Amino acid sequence: MLITFEGIDGAGKSTQVSRLQEHLQNQGRVVLTLREPGGTPEAERIRELLLESRHDFTPVGELLLFAASRAELLRKVILPALENGTDVILDRFFDSTTAYQGYGRGLDLDMLTEVNRIATGGLCPDVTFYLDLSPEEALLRKFSEKSLSLDFDAENLDRMESSGLDFYRRVRDGYHALVAASRKRIVQIDARLSPSVIHQIIISCLDSIDPVTGYRP
Ligand SMILES: Nc1ncnc2c1ncn2[C@@H]1O[C@H](COP(=O)(O)OP(=O)(O)OP(=O)(O)O)[C@@H](O)[C@H]1O
Ligand SMILES: [Mg+2]
Repeated sequence: MLITFEGIDGAGKSTQVSRLQEHLQNQGRVVLTLREPGGTPEAERIRELLLESRHDFTPVGELLLFAASRAELLRKVILPALENGTDVILDRFFDSTTAYQGYGRGLDLDMLTEVNRIATGGLCPDVTFYLDLSPEEALLRKFSEKSLSLDFDAENLDRMESSGLDFYRRVRDGYHALVAASRKRIVQIDARLSPSVIHQIIISCLDSIDPVTGYRP
């Protein structure tokens, strides 16, 4: 099964990914957890390029780098794992491209769909958990996290995080549009709930999925 997590930076994806991984492993399932961009040596190099603030890519350049990273990860890691019966949990997948590069940066959505299709070879998650949080609340979380570190200053924000609140508002709007268009696949969860409550919602949703047909009531 391929499970993906989506949401703006600071929404709580990594927190839930690690809880879910532990839960599934306790059930005796073999689980592979990956985050995008990255996951192979080549894709990790692309991740560094994308997140370093000294680089200033054009939106299309950024899009193609994300797609290149995804194409590597998918073909070298995700597909072989799924073929082995491993459950794969992804911290971000192609919905992030639509939300960030499409709604956030304003790239043409049809072009994005085509690039996503090429990068993923048409592979779609069985279920996607979208953690919904306002940019203001997300930023507060990130600041309280970073201000705990000794070398905190504004330059500590990575290239995405320093893109501004308006950018993140557009990204959130994009996620809402994706949820509306893919209600069968994407489950929206209020990210202001406690980590434990969110985890419970995720588990009950996964438990309700029919293992053969993938049907979710
Ligand atoms: N449900 C929650 N309620 C309150 N705080 C939370 C919740 N989930 C996570 N946090 C805290 O918010 C911060 C961001 O969480 P996390 O790193 O899981 O988010 P993320 O979506 O993975 O962010 P990024 O996209 O930047 O990787 C962390 O300090 C985490 O402890
Ligand atoms: Mg994270």
